[in-house]
Amino acid sequence: MSTPTDTQRMEKIVSLCKRRGFIFQSSEIYGGLNGAWDYGPLGVELKRNLKNYWWRVMVHERDDVVGMDGAILTHPAVLKASGHVEGFSDPMVDCRLTGKRFRADQIPRQSGTIFKYEFAREAAPVDRALQALAHLAETDAEPKFNKTRITSSDALDLAKRIVERRKLSISLPKADPEAIELFFSHLGDLLRQHPRSQWEEEFASAYSVPQRTICKDAFSVLVGPGESESKAKKTARAFYQKRGLKLPVVVPLPPADELKETQKFNPENGAELTPPRPFNLMFKTNVGAMEDESSVAYLRPETAQSIFVQFKNILEVARKKLPFGIAQIGKAFRNEINPRNFTFRSREFEQMELEYFCRPEQGMELLEYWKEERLKFYENIGLSRANLHLLNVPDEERAFYSKGTYDIEYDFPFGRQELEGVAYRTDYDLSQHQKASGKSLEYFDEETKERFIPHVVEPSAGVDRTVLAMICEAYAEDQAPNDKGEMEGRTFLRFHPRMAPIKCAIFPLLRNKEPLVAKAKQIRDLLRPHMFVFYDESGAIGRRYRRQDEIGTPFCVTVDFETLGEKQSDLRDTVTLRERDSMKQERVKISDLLGLLLLRIG
Ligand code: GAP
Repeated sequence: MSTPTDTQRMEKIVSLCKRRGFIFQSSEIYGGLNGAWDYGPLGVELKRNLKNYWWRVMVHERDDVVGMDGAILTHPAVLKASGHVEGFSDPMVDCRLTGKRFRADQIPRQSGTIFKYEFAREAAPVDRALQALAHLAETDAEPKFNKTRITSSDALDLAKRIVERRKLSISLPKADPEAIELFFSHLGDLLRQHPRSQWEEEFASAYSVPQRTICKDAFSVLVGPGESESKAKKTARAFYQKRGLKLPVVVPLPPADELKETQKFNPENGAELTPPRPFNLMFKTNVGAMEDESSVAYLRPETAQSIFVQFKNILEVARKKLPFGIAQIGKAFRNEINPRNFTFRSREFEQMELEYFCRPEQGMELLEYWKEERLKFYENIGLSRANLHLLNVPDEERAFYSKGTYDIEYDFPFGRQELEGVAYRTDYDLSQHQKASGKSLEYFDEETKERFIPHVVEPSAGVDRTVLAMICEAYAEDQAPNDKGEMEGRTFLRFHPRMAPIKCAIFPLLRNKEPLVAKAKQIRDLLRPHMFVFYDESGAIGRRYRRQDEIGTPFCVTVDFETLGEKQSDLRDTVTLRERDSMKQERVKISDLLGLLLLRIG
């Protein structure tokens, strides 16, 4: 389903992420590597907080889940058995003009008029015709041409001299190839009628159609409603120029058709796309010194497969009874055709996956259970329920082995998109690996004495997408008073305190008052073992608050003269605690500070 998009908001978010050190383009100083991102000092904290919280909720707070950390380099047999080598592909199309590659299913549907071209022929004179023109243009009065270096761009210059000198009634053409072709053909006819040497006939015959190059490729262009054929012609000319013609005369195939909702043309320039071809998304590499088929390995396209492959080992060591799960967080790699929307679709990304094994009859019920658990998780990291949506993936769009799949979607500024898939994958994966490896992956139920391959429900989330969703959810603008009390625009990140990169910033009111600085540093050291805090003494206090607001720090503590008990003795050893969103300040005892912050962070 399509939702309204907000490009401006997204641009501001991307710019803030770079400015404040959340996310940078990978290899930026070398022009960037498309589809790869580096997380800066704050981004890495945000990401870690997310992964740690997922691990806490999915592994540590449960008795029925254990963790693992599998290798990224994967044996090809694993991915053959899982179906990735054969089938992990996207339909890909190329623009026939620019070569740009698109995912066929992501091309926006377009309507308009299609102009088809059967072929194109060269309008620029061939070398023999150029030589003849040079001879015809020569007089004692004008400089001679070096006939070994005449180019087609000299042709009109030469022709102009001939037309003027012989006073031929023919007007010089504008730049388009059709007019140029007409001009040279007409010039040939006129010269042939009044020969003064062999060069008139030589030019006319050398410029005849059979002597000129033809590009036989057919091509078509879609132009939108209200756009003219000249746009289509321009695009078609560019297509034939790429195939070697200097001045292509494009030959149309009548009639022009109206098309509705087509996905066969490049949305950026209207040029025809190639038919869709499957494009395998896995990154292939070679392990060891030999670079041949025997050394091929893949970078894993999902973390799930190493869980299935280690199922038996983990079952033996963890001594768990069904239902139980194996969790993993780690990198996955996909050679996406169009990485886009900032980090949303990347080529290198992280997944947080749980494979929750169960008896076959528990599958559908556990699917419902995990869908609810996962929705709760997103709310607990600060995503609002109103921005979260559940898509019950219809039969025809589900993987053939899945009996039920939910997509948890989020309203990003660029539209509603998938955050996580919760899929009931039946016993497909373990059965495939059992078949391919010849090793039993069965479970023995002590009570019923049954032996069977467990079924699995898989909640599979993307770390990078969730980080992006948290940043998008948190981005906010309002008005706040500056140091002079004047209202001005404020940009701030409303992270849930649990997720915020820095939990608390600590400021001495003045940097040059030793007792204030010493007290602030004491508080920093008190809090530091329990949370990530930041000490800052530079600049006016309002500016310091603003800097923390912009990176989403939920609490700021200021040590002032009251803290030292200089004004009122009952305020000694109290500090100002400021909350980011409301900007409200309260007076708190230093001895209560840690407990209060831990409670509020959650
Ligand atoms: N094991 C199941 C699996 O991998 P998936 O729907 O292909 O399923 C799961 O991926 C999650 O991984 C997605 O919901 C998304 O959050 C994340 N993900 C997938 N491809 C991604 C990409 N190219 N860039 C960033 N995240 C991606």
